Amino acid sequence: MTSPHRLTLTQFLIEERRRFPHASGDFNSLILNVALACKSIARKVAFGALGAGQGDVGGAINVQGETQKEMDVVSNQVFLQVNEWCGCLAGMASEEMAEPYQIPDCYPKGKYLLVFDPLDGSSNIDVNVAVGSIFSVLRAPNGDAAVTEQDFLQAGASQVAAGYAVYGPATMLVLTVGNGVNGFTLDLELGEFMLTHPAMQVPPDTCEFAINASNSRFWEPPVKRYVDECMAGQTGGRCKDFNMRWIASMVAEAHRILMRGGVFLYPRDSKDASKPGRLRLLYEANPIGFIIEQAGGRASTGRLPVLDVKPTSLHQRIGLVFGSRNEVDRIERYHNDAQPTEMMNPLFNEHGLFRMPA
Ligand code: AHG
Ligand code: MN
Ligand code: MN
Repeated sequence: MTSPHRLTLTQFLIEERRRFPHASGDFNSLILNVALACKSIARKVAFGALGAGQGDVGGAINVQGETQKEMDVVSNQVFLQVNEWCGCLAGMASEEMAEPYQIPDCYPKGKYLLVFDPLDGSSNIDVNVAVGSIFSVLRAPNGDAAVTEQDFLQAGASQVAAGYAVYGPATMLVLTVGNGVNGFTLDLELGEFMLTHPAMQVPPDTCEFAINASNSRFWEPPVKRYVDECMAGQTGGRCKDFNMRWIASMVAEAHRILMRGGVFLYPRDSKDASKPGRLRLLYEANPIGFIIEQAGGRASTGRLPVLDVKPTSLHQRIGLVFGSRNEVDRIERYHNDAQPTEMMNPLFNEHGLFRMPA
C-alpha cells in the first residue's frame, strides 16, 4: 500500500500561485522564510533544558512591561535574521521590539510588512507546555521606503496572510492566505511542513470555553453572564454542560479551537486601568482572528469584529473573543444588550481618563 501523496508547504504555495499568474513569487518566498524561522525555533524549543535559552533574561523587561524569557529574545532574533535578507519586506514589527525594525541597507527591500509574536505563551516554556509563534503579513503602504509605526496601523481585514506555528508534541504551521485555512505538520526526517489538515473548519457550536477565571472579579457583566451560564450547565438556561480549558498559550488554544471548536475569551476588563485587554491587536488578535474567520469561526472584541478595528498604536491591547461562530455571536449579543451603566470602570467611559477603543 502506498502512503497518501501529501503536498509540501512549497508545493502548496506553488499551486496557490498558479491562481495568480502575474505574481512575482515574493509572497511565496516570504512565507517559506517564515516557515524556516518557525522550524529553527521549533528545534531550539525542543532541546528543552538541554539547550541554551532557558529561563529569564537577567531581569530584562520588554516594551509590554513583561519579563522576557531568553527564548523570547532568541526567537525574535531568529525571525529577524531569517526574514531580513529575503528582499520581500519593507520592515518588521514584533512584540519584543518597541519600534519597527528597518531592513538593513545591505539587503534589498520589498512590498510587504511582517508583524509577529515570536514566542507566544512563553511563560510555559520552562514547564514544557506547548508554545508557538504568530505572524501577520501586511502590504507596505509606502513601497519599500523606510517604515514608520503608522505603516503598520492597518485594520486586520487588510492582512494579506496570517499564520501560526505551534510547538507541541508535533510542530504544526497553520496558514491562511485569505482563501481558507490549511494546516501543515513538520516531518522531522524531511525537514518539511506537509499538508496534513486541508481546509480546516471551526465547528459552529461547542461545549468548551477557555478563560482565565482568576480575573472574574474584573470582568464586565456580559462576560460574567456568559461564563455563569456555561458553569450552570444542564441546570441553567443553556441546558447543556460545558467543559473549561486554560493553557495560557493563546496559540495552543486557537489550535484546539480550530481542531474541535470552542470559544476563547480574554475580554477587556478592569484589572489594570492602563491595559484595555491583555492581548495585542497587531500580532495576536488580528492574525488569530483572520485565521479563525477564514475557517468559518468568528473573532470579536466582544462588541464588534476584531478585524474591523483601526489600530492606534503598534503594541495596542484589546479585548478578544474568538472561536465557534454561534458562541461568539451570543457573547456579542450579551455585550450589546448590556446597559451602559453596568459597564466597566468609570476610567474607561467616554469622558474617562482612558477612553476605550472599540
Ligand atoms: P506572550 O507569551 O506572547 O506574552 O503571550 C501570552 C498571552 C497568551 O498566549 C495567553 O493566552 C495569555 O497571555 C495568558 O494570560 P494569563 O497569564 O492571564 O493566563
Ligand atoms: Mn503572545
Ligand atoms: Mn510572545
